[in-house]
Amino acid sequence: MTVTDYINQRRDAHLDELKSFLRIPSVSTKSEHKPDIERAAHWVAGQLRSAGLEDVALIPTGGHPMVYGEWLHAPGKPTILFYGHYDVQPAEPLDLWTSPAFDPAIRDGKLYARGTADDKGQIHIHFKALEALMKTQGSLPINVKVMIEGEEEVGSVNLWNFVEKFRDRLKADALVVSDTSMLAPGVPSVTYGLRGLNYYQVEITGPAQDLHSGVFGGAVPNPLTILSELIARLHDKNFQVTIPGFYNDVARLSARERKALLALPWSRKQFVKTVGAPALCGEKGFSPVEQLWARPTLEVNGMWGGYIGEGAKTVIPSKAFAKISTRLVPHQEPAKIARLVEKHIRKLLPKTVTCKFEVLSMGKPWVAPFSHPFFGAAQRALQKGFGKRAVFIREGGSIPFVTQMHDTFKVPCVLIGFGLPDENAHAPDEHLLLENYFGGIHAIAHFYQELGKL
Ligand code: BES
Ligand code: MN
Ligand code: MN
Repeated sequence: MTVTDYINQRRDAHLDELKSFLRIPSVSTKSEHKPDIERAAHWVAGQLRSAGLEDVALIPTGGHPMVYGEWLHAPGKPTILFYGHYDVQPAEPLDLWTSPAFDPAIRDGKLYARGTADDKGQIHIHFKALEALMKTQGSLPINVKVMIEGEEEVGSVNLWNFVEKFRDRLKADALVVSDTSMLAPGVPSVTYGLRGLNYYQVEITGPAQDLHSGVFGGAVPNPLTILSELIARLHDKNFQVTIPGFYNDVARLSARERKALLALPWSRKQFVKTVGAPALCGEKGFSPVEQLWARPTLEVNGMWGGYIGEGAKTVIPSKAFAKISTRLVPHQEPAKIARLVEKHIRKLLPKTVTCKFEVLSMGKPWVAPFSHPFFGAAQRALQKGFGKRAVFIREGGSIPFVTQMHDTFKVPCVLIGFGLPDENAHAPDEHLLLENYFGGIHAIAHFYQELGKL
């Protein structure tokens, strides 16, 4: 049987398998889901074993386990390291899901559930491509190492240690990742740049305890007001970040790259539709594609404090909190940016409050050339799988492992995404276009075969 026939004949079986994976609520940020994380890790290990990989194991880290497997019997052929993650973002707010987040449902050619696009559906594509090759050819065309993480969505906090410890084991000729998006439906894409991410938490304390806002209001500092003002001052009217030095090391796009990016079939209309806001807003002087892929930003991810329950409660809160992140681009240095952010926030604070500033995670940006023959193989494979020519894009999201691999081993990183920007990753009604899921399995099987021909 041909690889193509094998994949086509098993469409329903593959989908059923993916659904069972999606039913496991492997939310990495919440300790109550620890058993689900374990279950998901074992599920992945089972997939690797049934695809014929060897030495499959759950490797403990300081946090959630890493799943590893390999097949190294193609002497003289390239060795790739495939990376992905089995953990998912929390599903809240639950009431905004059309069907339950962990009960997969198909509507209109799309599979809905948390993790469909990010990243369970995409790693399953590789598991099934490997299985198809192994079952029909009895071997793989290349050497493969697979590493599936359980902490990507919480900043890959134990990854550095892991990479250091298993340095020799992880060595490969290329890193392959499917955890990104296609530019648009029907436009297969290879991503050659990601932004880095620093994540901070700020805690402002005023009064030693909550106070009656009638008895005390007017004569005491209100941490929520102070935090709101502080946050409002982090951007100017041109939507530039006001932190001194924030843009100092930012690499400008070359005229050539800028031209190539602006020539991509990126649709403003589609983007506005996806966003769903009355209008867009971004750093003045840059097109949205530049704002999203090549400019650093600062975002408030959440703010809280005081009374947020039903009805009214008159209170001056003792504390106010914010979760803030910065997306970084070449050649910004995460540690330096973290220092600048903290320094500026402390400078803006009045003497009436104290501030605890925590850096929850840091990650470097990644941009690399795509001239290596592996990228040509990816393009040929996507052409075969989707019948369309692939484009090379950058993206605004972050995948800490890509930077780490690139820094550690200096190998080409081939990011082939099968998600779409409007598939609601991290949001309610996350979904994956089934056409891209099945097309992805074909494309990845072709990709591994193309790599075997190099
Ligand atoms: N798969 C995403 C990253 C991504 C999404 C890259 C779309 C390109 C296009 C990944 O799971 C993710 O969400 N990463 C986090 C960072 C992480 C350190 C928590 C992110 O980008 O916010
Ligand atoms: Mn992801
Ligand atoms: Mn994610």
